[in-house]
Amino acid sequence: MPANVRKPLPGQIHLSRRSYLQWANTVAQLTRTPKSLKKPRSEASDLEIAAALIHDMRPDLIQLWETFTTERADVSRYLMDPKREALVYLLGFHLANQARTLGVLLRLQRRSGLLSSLSERAEPVRLVDLGCGTGALSLTTAQELKELNPNLALSFELIDKSQNFLEAAAMQAKALVAEDAVLLRRQKLDDYLSRELSNGPAEGLVWYQIGYLWNEIMQSPKTTQLMLRYLEAGLQKGKRVLTIIEPANQDLARGAMELRQELVNRGYQVLYPCSHNLDCPMLERTRDWCYSEFAWERPPLVRNVDKILEIDRHRIGCAAYVFVSPDMIKDFRQPASIVVGRPLDRNASMHSRKFEYLLCSEDGLSKATPGEGLELMRGQTFDPVKERASTKPKVPKAEAKPTPEAKPKADARKPGVRKPQGRKAPRKER
Ligand SMILES: C[S@@+](CC[C@H](N)C(=O)[O-])C[C@H]1O[C@@H](n2cnc3c(N)ncnc32)[C@H](O)[C@@H]1O
Repeated sequence: MPANVRKPLPGQIHLSRRSYLQWANTVAQLTRTPKSLKKPRSEASDLEIAAALIHDMRPDLIQLWETFTTERADVSRYLMDPKREALVYLLGFHLANQARTLGVLLRLQRRSGLLSSLSERAEPVRLVDLGCGTGALSLTTAQELKELNPNLALSFELIDKSQNFLEAAAMQAKALVAEDAVLLRRQKLDDYLSRELSNGPAEGLVWYQIGYLWNEIMQSPKTTQLMLRYLEAGLQKGKRVLTIIEPANQDLARGAMELRQELVNRGYQVLYPCSHNLDCPMLERTRDWCYSEFAWERPPLVRNVDKILEIDRHRIGCAAYVFVSPDMIKDFRQPASIVVGRPLDRNASMHSRKFEYLLCSEDGLSKATPGEGLELMRGQTFDPVKERASTKPKVPKAEAKPTPEAKPKADARKPGVRKPQGRKAPRKER
């Protein structure tokens, strides 16, 4: 690790230097020389080019962020200019989605051993990234599998209606696998899914990746039905894994909870975050919603973007799920209970800000008093023995303060930062 890269705090997500540099290289390849670059391009590093571009694209970053946080219904229109849109997404949001995916995969691996099991099986894995955008989910999954078994045969099938997004994803995928192992499908999902349904499910081990897409297609019953039928058809063949990531805010995370229920009804088994495959007990409680939180050691240029957006992604959230087909479940362990909320302790004074853990297990929802160990975030496993046994408080800075319930801090605006004139205050977080 180079001297200028700080070591992550315990429990923090830390993207590898390699994927950070690969991201910067893709940014640099996709852009003309930024106006604010202070040296000849030939002498500038990819990171310097990306830094200058972030500076130059400040208005676009703000505009795209506000589209994501305020007018999600219009989100499919993004910035109207497809080339600019893919570049701004890559600059501002790709790494955060990689961090979220990595957070999910690390927890998944720790509790179920799914990734090491797949890497030991040494059977080729096909990563099918639907609405791939810049490829954050499938790239991170590939990187993690390769880390465990560099010889594992991986291939990508990247599907998106936008050529510019596909290009950005493909550049990074081709840095990980041979060129002929990256298949690009510039297609509307309706066309892709209809064709796949008539062809029948593919042979072999398939890992579907669906990131920040469901909320964009939710308004289209035709697309969502095709998607559900397509995913269900995969179960006939077995050897299926499915990652779904959605925004953490109440409406969209509840949409993801309903999707989880639908997939369970159709035969999928949830491996993350749930500790069981029963009906989701939080769906009955209209005020609650399930999402995951992670502490993220943001790379330097993500901090630059955060300054522009007046947000602080040292803590990130998302509604995230990983499923497998039933033929695979026998291999994996599941934890007993998961932290799904941290309501303030009603018996304590308001000033104490004492909180409890809201836990989800196959017995339903229950509450527990936190022990003295590391503060747990939503989506983490609750271990009653550890909670009682740990006596030394060792709370990383990023996790030090409990948050009041119903106010997720993920991607939160910094307290005390005034909203600039003329910009709408984001109502929802991503
Ligand atoms: C918010 S981005 C998410 C990108 C990526 N999956 C991630 O998590 O970072 C949604 C992507 O889905 C694509 N998309 C949305 N609706 C689509 C459709 N009906 N057909 C094909 N692609 C679609 C968009 O072009 C965009 O690249």
